[in-house]
Amino acid sequence: MTYVHGYNQAENIRLQDQASTLVELLHSDTSYPAGSLVLEAGCGVGAQAVTLARNSPHAHITSIDISESSLETARKNIESASIRTVTFMQGDIFALPFRPESFDHIFVCFVLEHLSRPVEALHCLKTVLKTGGTITAVEGDHGSAFFHPDSTAADKAIQCQVELQKRAGGNAKIGRELYPLLATAGFSSIRVSPRMVYADSSKPHLVEGFTKNTFTAMIEGVRESSVEAGLLDKNTFDTGIRDLYKTTEKDGVFCYTFFKATATK
Ligand SMILES: C[S@@+](CC[C@H](N)C(=O)[O-])C[C@H]1O[C@@H](n2cnc3c(N)ncnc32)[C@H](O)[C@@H]1O
Repeated sequence: MTYVHGYNQAENIRLQDQASTLVELLHSDTSYPAGSLVLEAGCGVGAQAVTLARNSPHAHITSIDISESSLETARKNIESASIRTVTFMQGDIFALPFRPESFDHIFVCFVLEHLSRPVEALHCLKTVLKTGGTITAVEGDHGSAFFHPDSTAADKAIQCQVELQKRAGGNAKIGRELYPLLATAGFSSIRVSPRMVYADSSKPHLVEGFTKNTFTAMIEGVRESSVEAGLLDKNTFDTGIRDLYKTTEKDGVFCYTFFKATATK
């Protein structure tokens, strides 16, 4: 798999910034009963595992990822948070190392957007979920980004990320598709809740944590590959990034919508 964001220190920090900034908006309403068995699929560096464990201190969480190097960082992060209810394992969503119906709940965040076969992934996850168990899926949608001041160059730079992710087999606009994907995979009682991040200068925490350190950092991260692939010239890309930073100034505004779905097997 070509992973569009790459596995590196800057991306690890970005994932942590993303998780800590969005904790309240995305995860405050996810908690699992004491004793329940939860599978977190595609845990990365454990940025969401910490929140899951804190919100459900008496659940048993198994967090898997295909990347052993991400898991190493995840283990360190969870240890330094003094959390003992999370077990990390290397594993592929498409070849899960668990018996059918092993888990009460499944949690998958910012992973389906990177997979070329998201419905098949949901099928695989459904197999290891108990009948009556729930899945929670959280995804962004880059088509939902709008801002002031408006900028065609910024739109083009964002489009580079969308295109690169597509070429890597993923879909950066998958948020809007969570309902049909879960329905196609055979889940029932599907509920999708859009969660908008709105950041202006009265919310410096969101401007820093989301507009700058999560979203703009992500677009900046694909500068070289976008230019190399001939998707955009350097100057326009850099203007786009400069314009994204302008949305973080006194009169700037940035909006983005995540989609959170829950469904039952
Ligand atoms: C954007 S990261 C998200 C990590 C974490 N869920 C978070 O929200 O911070 C996507 C993760 O999915 C993992 N991944 C991609 N394909 C996978 C697969 N087939 N099986 C397991 N993990 C996978 C990647 O290695 C990466 O760590």
